[in-house]
Amino acid sequence: MEEKQERRRRIVLIPAPAQGHISPMMQLARALHLKGFSITVAQTKFNYLKPSKDLADFQFITIPESLPASDLKNLGPVWFLLKLNKECEFSFKECLGHLLLQKPLKPEEEIACVIYDEFMYFAEAAAKEFNLPKLIFSTENATAFACRSAMCKLYAKDGLAPLKERCGREEELVPELHPLRYKDLPTSAFAPVEASVEVFKSSCEKGTASSMIINTVSCLEVSSLEWLQQELKIPIYPIGPLHMVASAPPTSLLEENEGCIDWLNKQKPSSVIYISLGSFTLLETKEVLEMASGLVSSNQHFLWVIRPGSILGSELTNEELLSMMEIPDRGYIVKWAPQKQVLAHSAVGAFWSHCGWNSTLESMGEGVPMICRPFTTDQKVNARYVECVWRVGVQVESELKRGVVERAVKRLMVDEEGEEMKMRALSLKEKLKVSILPEGSSHSSLDDLIKTL
Ligand code: UDX
Repeated sequence: MEEKQERRRRIVLIPAPAQGHISPMMQLARALHLKGFSITVAQTKFNYLKPSKDLADFQFITIPESLPASDLKNLGPVWFLLKLNKECEFSFKECLGHLLLQKPLKPEEEIACVIYDEFMYFAEAAAKEFNLPKLIFSTENATAFACRSAMCKLYAKDGLAPLKERCGREEELVPELHPLRYKDLPTSAFAPVEASVEVFKSSCEKGTASSMIINTVSCLEVSSLEWLQQELKIPIYPIGPLHMVASAPPTSLLEENEGCIDWLNKQKPSSVIYISLGSFTLLETKEVLEMASGLVSSNQHFLWVIRPGSILGSELTNEELLSMMEIPDRGYIVKWAPQKQVLAHSAVGAFWSHCGWNSTLESMGEGVPMICRPFTTDQKVNARYVECVWRVGVQVESELKRGVVERAVKRLMVDEEGEEMKMRALSLKEKLKVSILPEGSSHSSLDDLIKTL
């Protein structure tokens, strides 16, 4: 229930154009709106948020830019971010200027501050120009931030050598980042290391930002949060898991298939493995076929999300894949699922995930153990933490072969080891629930943040 109160001043939010960034930004928007702030979302044409009934109280403004609409897909996320940040620095200044020129009639029209996704760093310079307070919002976690910063330092010191895919040091631990290995560093599958480092250099730079909001929980990464505080020397507000703090207005990239919930309703408790690799993981056709045969031989029930276009070089439809597997009653394949509802369903026993940070938080928030198959960037960091720090899952690191898939699924769904992971996952779930209750760490952090706003 929304607290009845006078509207406070306006906050301008700048989300990055990706599902995994828009959702937590809109959850933050909802949390701030519930606290009484008015919300303006400043976005480029690459975001797909539109004013709707659910978002009726939010104002949307468009940051003009002249990038081809195909750039997001054609350039891949890293090159695209570099280009978008250059392109928007000037136009966002104009946008903010226009907003400020509209003489505030009511206090709620006055801009209190700008909150920008850490990868939309162009916003910092623009807000600085108008002397507006600015806050960074990290939709990923503190450990991933520490890794990006470490990558910039390693690159400055030793160049590309330690960061290359086959550098000979992949299995070595990175100093001061225990238990992360060189191969867990958040390099991108979409661009050479040099380009990622260029983005990271800017996104790790706090500039004149006054503080950082971060979608994580203190108990998950105490030492990384301490490190972050010391490194940036500004207040850090860990207020996650945001999806448990405030339900976001619908921000889904694709239409959610509700039929899968009816299907789950017919399954036994903890009998289904849910498989979803987030919003932009790509798989080779042969990997999908090996996964399919591994699932068949594991003898487990599964709910599998396969986004259209996510299998490289294949026109295979989900229906064709399921019928090839010849076990129609044991599986359900959809293009996009209502993931939070799926993970909360009692029939789901484990989650095969790419370990995007939202998926990881959503899984831990429901006490569901994970099979981790990271694809790019922070997903590798998260997967390592799931396996070695929180110990609520296993990582599949070898080539995806039928036997490897079968073994991983059975480890979680059948073996005693899986039961132990489930117990730890349930205990973590309780800790996350406590963190958002009054007196909980995230709740207090959000209160502190509101006071400063
Ligand atoms: C991206 C990066 O890949 C990730 O590394 C980073 O941490 C955030 O941005 P993405 O691939 O989109 O994330 O994954 P994730 O962070 O897990 O976000 C995916 C979101 O889509 C989740 O909130 C999930 O609930 C939702 N989703 C996914 C659905 O609603 N339905 C689905 O079928 C699949």
